[in-house]
Amino acid sequence: MWTSCWNICVIALLLPLGVIASPIPKRSLQTPTDFEVIIIGGGPAGLSALSGLARVRRTALLIDSGEYRNGATRHAHDIIGSDGVTPAYFRAAARDQISLYPTVSMQNGTIVDIQKINDTSFMVTDATGKAYTSQKIVLATGIKDLVPTTPGLPENWSKGIYWCPWCDGYEHRDQPMGLLSTIDQIPGMVEEISTLNNDLIAFVNGSMTPAVLQALGAKQPDWEQMLATYNVQVDNRTITAIERTQDGAVVASAVDKAEYDKFIIHLDDGTAVERGVFFTSFPHTQRSGLGAALGVTIVDGKLFSNFTTGMRTNLPGVYAVGDANSDGSTNVPHAMWSGKRAAVDIHSEFFSNAGSLRRPVRIYGW
Ligand SMILES: Cc1cc2nc3c(=O)[nH]c(=O)nc-3n(C[C@H](O)[C@H](O)[C@H](O)COP(=O)(O)OP(=O)(O)OC[C@H]3O[C@@H](n4cnc5c(N)ncnc54)[C@H](O)[C@@H]3O)c2cc1C
Ligand SMILES: *[C@@H]1O[C@H](CO)[C@@H](O)[C@H](O)[C@H]1NC(C)=O
Ligand SMILES: *[C@@H]1O[C@H](CO)[C@@H](O)[C@H](O)[C@H]1NC(C)=O
Ligand SMILES: *[C@@H]1O[C@H](CO)[C@@H](O)[C@H](O)[C@H]1NC(C)=O
Ligand SMILES: *[C@@H]1O[C@H](CO)[C@@H](O)[C@H](O)[C@H]1NC(C)=O
Ligand SMILES: *[C@@H]1O[C@H](CO)[C@@H](O)[C@H](O)[C@H]1NC(C)=O
Ligand SMILES: *[C@@H]1O[C@H](CO)[C@@H](O)[C@H](O)[C@H]1NC(C)=O
Repeated sequence: MWTSCWNICVIALLLPLGVIASPIPKRSLQTPTDFEVIIIGGGPAGLSALSGLARVRRTALLIDSGEYRNGATRHAHDIIGSDGVTPAYFRAAARDQISLYPTVSMQNGTIVDIQKINDTSFMVTDATGKAYTSQKIVLATGIKDLVPTTPGLPENWSKGIYWCPWCDGYEHRDQPMGLLSTIDQIPGMVEEISTLNNDLIAFVNGSMTPAVLQALGAKQPDWEQMLATYNVQVDNRTITAIERTQDGAVVASAVDKAEYDKFIIHLDDGTAVERGVFFTSFPHTQRSGLGAALGVTIVDGKLFSNFTTGMRTNLPGVYAVGDANSDGSTNVPHAMWSGKRAAVDIHSEFFSNAGSLRRPVRIYGW
């Protein structure tokens, strides 16, 4: 059969090839707004959203003011394929790769205002007064840790004084550890760190007041027994300073991924206690007030975002991703996942019936 139709089949095959060989007009990038999407924030969440949009040739602008949550940390961990790289390297590699895609761009700057123009468009303005329009907004603006101003603490934050066990715990495993927070946070912190460190002193800095203890007892009646089980000493004295005596960036072992910091914590009665590492639980706040000002619902200090509907906020066309959003997770893998999820939803929403009101008038040029 194949042999009998050989000539005809070859001709039949070549015909469409001739069509394919003629130049295909490029997709027109003409939209009623400057960009289809504007992403505010260039951490892993914003960069991931930008990558997803770039891959399907959506037009997008990312604007980033460069105040990253993990900006001061030595290395980023628990990001498969990139475990232990510096956060700056991780972001630079992402920017390099994304910069090859022609429909998206990135620039440094601070957005100071977002206005809804009509049901299909937004206008953002940067600190220099430049304005850009888009049909969707992705808020990837991150959060900011409110580190107490106790001398030595903000200066050494993220370098032997850390925030999450997954991020930096392994490098300081089995070292004498101090826990820094109010007493009500300590049982939860012990649970998280118990497989990494067991020489634990909780420096609760005068927080053991009757009101705090009563609230903790009501929430977790067995908290004292729990701390005793894990051999946690509790120190209620007021912290006056934290002094570094050894830098784990210098005294470190590449072989077993250990960093050996040393600190002396000074207390208000003149006592000093040595510890190798601190694990903290301090409050945090939104890095930017833009989402709240636009009308995004705030849930426990976070921008409301529904992951079932692709990270949409309560406002049509506005998405919230990464640490800033309310889905209860704050780490680089989540930032990347949520950014990607918003990109997918945005791409499909431009086509969906439900989104037809916000559908761009786009000329494809086919
Ligand atoms: C000490 C420390 C260590 C950490 N280590 C790890 C780790 O090892 N592994 C891990 O998975 N996670 C780690 N994290 C968590 C990680 O940093 C965050 O989960 C991650 O950075 C969240 O990414 P994001 O893109 O949401 O926010 P960010 O990375 O914080 O980026 C937000 C960006 O938005 C910008 N922005 C805000 N407002 C505006 C505006 N108005 N205009 C323009 N730009 C704006 C900011 O300047 C910033 O550049 C660590 C966190 C801390 C505090
Ligand atoms: C909304 O505003 C954009 C940008 O100014 C404009 O191009 C578009 O035509 C407007 N759409 C409607 C429905 O008014
Ligand atoms: C933009 O900021 C990044 C770091 O966030 C920096 O590496 C880069 O040089 C900046 N670009 C310009 C043009 O200033
Ligand atoms: C300790 O408590 C004092 C007084 O409330 C406060 O000013 C300081 O920031 C706290 N320090 C730490 C490390 O929590
Ligand atoms: C803890 O310290 C605070 C502040 O000095 C004090 O008010 C409180 O009584 C102390 N609590 C205990 C249980 O000692
Ligand atoms: C840490 O704190 C010390 C004071 O104890 C200060 O001199 C130093 O600059 C801080 N930062 C680092 C990275 O060591
Ligand atoms: C998220 O969206 C889903 C699907 O529309 C909906 O069922 C759910 O109630 C929403 N969740 C919240 C918290 O709004």
